[in-house]
Amino acid sequence: MTTSAIPFEVNGQPVTFEQDPETPLLWVLRDHLQFTGTKFGCGAGHCGACTVHVNGRAQRACMTPVASIKGASIVTIEGLAEGETLHPVQQAWLEQDVPQCGYCQAGQILATVDLLKRIPQPSDEQIDAQLTNLCRCGTYVRIRKAVHRAAQLMQEKESRYESD
Ligand code: FES
Ligand code: FES
Repeated sequence: MTTSAIPFEVNGQPVTFEQDPETPLLWVLRDHLQFTGTKFGCGAGHCGACTVHVNGRAQRACMTPVASIKGASIVTIEGLAEGETLHPVQQAWLEQDVPQCGYCQAGQILATVDLLKRIPQPSDEQIDAQLTNLCRCGTYVRIRKAVHRAAQLMQEKESRYESD
């Protein structure tokens, strides 16, 4: 095994990983950096429980060798709120009481943030097609409602900025 220093950023803080560069980002986040909000589900890229943002786009951390994110900016669920202010997607999740066991929800929220950046007012069909994260508790109906609510909250936030 060859090792090399791999610098990147997690939630705005610089970090360096100096072990096997093939280590999946998920293990680096959970085991080495203690960001345990990111979950292990299938380990094969299917369930989305391990979703994080890599340079602003949702990505499955279990399928991401740490070598491939050299210099990148990673955001996990721990880094989504701004201080005490929840991200609108987190706020919508609370309002709609989405989680059941909660295991999949960090990934669902991060995937939704990415979706709303690309499609600010998604239809039900677009939500179903774009959010491929699995929920074994079957919270999909509430997730869909929360995505619509989050879209509304984000639009309100934007119009507040514009009128300031
Ligand atoms: S744990 Fe990564 S997609 Fe399931
Ligand atoms: S809330 Fe239990 S897996 Fe989704």
